[in-house]
Amino acid sequence: MSTADLLRITNLSKSYDGSTKALDGASLSLRRGEFVSIIGSSGAGKSTLLRCVNRLIDPTEGSILFDGTEVCGLRGRKLRGLRRRISMVFQHYNLVHRSTAIENVLQGRLGYKNSLAGALSLFSEEEKRNAFEALEQVGLGCCAYMRADQLSGGQKQRVGIARALVQDPLLILADEPIASLDPISSRTVMEHLRWAADEKGIACLVSLHQVEYAQQFSDRVIGISGGKIVFDGVPAELTPAKIAEIYGEDNPNAPFAECC
Ligand SMILES: Nc1ncnc2c1ncn2[C@@H]1O[C@H](COP(=O)(O)OP(=O)(O)OP(=O)(O)O)[C@@H](O)[C@H]1O
Ligand SMILES: [Mg+2]
Repeated sequence: MSTADLLRITNLSKSYDGSTKALDGASLSLRRGEFVSIIGSSGAGKSTLLRCVNRLIDPTEGSILFDGTEVCGLRGRKLRGLRRRISMVFQHYNLVHRSTAIENVLQGRLGYKNSLAGALSLFSEEEKRNAFEALEQVGLGCCAYMRADQLSGGQKQRVGIARALVQDPLLILADEPIASLDPISSRTVMEHLRWAADEKGIACLVSLHQVEYAQQFSDRVIGISGGKIVFDGVPAELTPAKIAEIYGEDNPNAPFAECC
């Protein structure tokens, strides 16, 4: 493992039913502050891979080394410690609709609280200041006291990023963060994630269906097909032939048109 590696996944497999492999011997690494996209057709195993990293699901085989600690097998306090340093950003935002933007951002601090303080939503002045600053960093200082259900999709996703930031993570896992957004909001969300990598040194592992965004924003792109990693390279290496290999020549949904 290179000393610069934050995450090193080796021979990771996951079978949900005991026979078919949703993830099949995947190996990859991620450096601190690196921005890596994962592309592949529906069912290729992108979400399975992301969810294994913070142990939302348990892999069947393999190793995940995060910041020098083996993730597979972690339990209790150590697992909670791991999850504090790995934030998640979701396609459907996972906000509490009736709470304000800033209350949603503060949820990112819950992993640092004991259960009573968490249940009572007791946050320090510093945490509140940091939450407001995170909202300003994603351009939403103005919306701090608006209810989440009054925000647009793009704004909701930026609240999701602010919530991820206040967690003080080493890694953000984003599972199709722009799949529900229009092109302008998509670009803004990608820019904020890229900013987190560049300015805060937070590594980002982002699953995407839009190859052109993966090429434009990533240091490296990983292609998955049938649970196997079939491409791992810089965007310039992602040729139409490679894209065809990732998505399958016969796949009618393959995004060839954007790339040829
Ligand atoms: N909870 C589950 N139980 C059983 N099978 C599952 C489960 N989650 C995913 N799978 C299967 O594992 C495979 C990989 O699914 P996964 O959700 O990781 O793909 P994906 O690349 O994220 O797809 P999409 O682009 O549609 O989100 C698929 O065959 C899927 O049906
Ligand atoms: Mg998925």
